[in-house]
Amino acid sequence: MGTLRPLIAGNWKMNGLLAPGTDLARGVADWARANAPLAADVLVCPPFTLLAAVAQAAAGSGVMVGAQDCHAEVSGAHTGDVSARQVKDAGCTHVILGHSERRADHGETDPVVRAKTEAAYEAGLVAVVCVGETLAERESGRAFDVVRAQVRGSLPAAAAPANTVIAYEPVWAIGTGKVATAEQAQEIHAFIRSELSALLGAGPAREMRILYGGSMKPDNAGALLAQPDVNGGLIGGASLKAEDFTQIVSATR
Ligand code: PGA
Repeated sequence: MGTLRPLIAGNWKMNGLLAPGTDLARGVADWARANAPLAADVLVCPPFTLLAAVAQAAAGSGVMVGAQDCHAEVSGAHTGDVSARQVKDAGCTHVILGHSERRADHGETDPVVRAKTEAAYEAGLVAVVCVGETLAERESGRAFDVVRAQVRGSLPAAAAPANTVIAYEPVWAIGTGKVATAEQAQEIHAFIRSELSALLGAGPAREMRILYGGSMKPDNAGALLAQPDVNGGLIGGASLKAEDFTQIVSATR
């Protein structure tokens, strides 16, 4: 975990209707209130339709709310899209950008992710910028090159610890139950930090949180979070049950 305060972020993906989604948020918020002060920052990222309700349910608990994407423009003729300013207006502090599912499903390239990240900064949101290699890329020995290119291509010049969190999510570990070993995670997190150091300077690189994502669960979170360059987690499946998600938050102690 290193010396940085960890961040445990839930990525609900395209899951949740109003009533159960609000209940889930309330479950996490009630737990956070009952267990304050927490050893980690806690963030939940529901779908757009639930942002305002979840922000209301989490208000005063310390649990922060984020979106899973935003558009690069502030407003205008972009049917179906949502701007960073709108995300912020719904009660969010964060936005996940460049998730591998968006890179795959919507053809998001590094320049697109960078433009969205700039929009997030402009709106006063913290960007959770996702990078990670596919199985084919790892097996052909290209994981480090792919991640380096994503880090360099997706981060704006203004990236800083206060406005950016990196999430390393190997695509082969997302939703597959195949978690990276603690050693694999540490190796690539340390590599990302060295890239950040070359890009932003040693000070910012030391302060920027790098989350691990990909099949993180209560039973494997402790080992991953114990690594010096793993500063938290981006949790998909296990964030959909308050008990599992909050157990992972507890694993940061
Ligand atoms: P998972 O998803 O925990 O279900 O593997 C992580 C993510 O994609 O953010």
